[in-house]
Amino acid sequence: MTTTDPVTLMKQAVGKAAADRVQSGMIVGLGTGSTTAYAIQSIGERLRAGDLKDIKGIPTSFQAIVLAKEYGIPLTTLDEVEKIDLAIDGADEVDPHKNLIKGGGAAHTREKIVDTLAEYFIVVVDSSKIVDRLGSTFLLPVEVLPLAMTPVMRAITKLGGQPQLRMGVKKAGPVITDQGNFVIDVKFDRIDDPATLEKELNNIPGVLENGLFVGVTDLVLIGEVKDGQPIVREM
Ligand code: A5P
Repeated sequence: MTTTDPVTLMKQAVGKAAADRVQSGMIVGLGTGSTTAYAIQSIGERLRAGDLKDIKGIPTSFQAIVLAKEYGIPLTTLDEVEKIDLAIDGADEVDPHKNLIKGGGAAHTREKIVDTLAEYFIVVVDSSKIVDRLGSTFLLPVEVLPLAMTPVMRAITKLGGQPQLRMGVKKAGPVITDQGNFVIDVKFDRIDDPATLEKELNNIPGVLENGLFVGVTDLVLIGEVKDGQPIVREM
């Protein structure tokens, strides 16, 4: 189906541009979110056309598993491979150092495992995700064991954050992650030192992982619309 919605056009263009960098024989980390979904679709189309061969995907979420199956991408697991050649994933914010906030889809724990292991990590975003400072537009997601929710929220408050439990949409009660945990979204007035904050949050007992991705990204592909046409630029 064709669309003229500029955001969709940007996401499609950037997803395809990332998929074009996949080569035959690669183990590919398959990210989560609406932008990466277009990359997964495009990889599947290249496979079906015979332009790509011997690809295996490592999914970062149930969403990625479903999409890979839909588009005919064979899947494998971290137990079966020695390395991941390339990972493609979206982001909620990207700063000038290519550091990220992720987790808008509550998948950041598996995403960080896969994206960090990849030899080359491509982030796919539309231009609205580019910020001068992380935390400007998006709350920072933290995955937490349900039984530790209250002490973790207290500890986050002591670090200067304002935590709130993420609630489900079309589901009563909190969002449950693919691992069966809760997500706490945290407002920080400013995140000056993402590397330190990433470690401090993960050091709170009961926290599995937070959505700060520091020093992981190799390339950011940014989708933009110019004169009504989608274009892709590199950061
Ligand atoms: C999933 O938990 C997130 O990290 C996504 O990668 C991120 O929210 C980007 O999603 P969109 O491409 O849908 O904006």
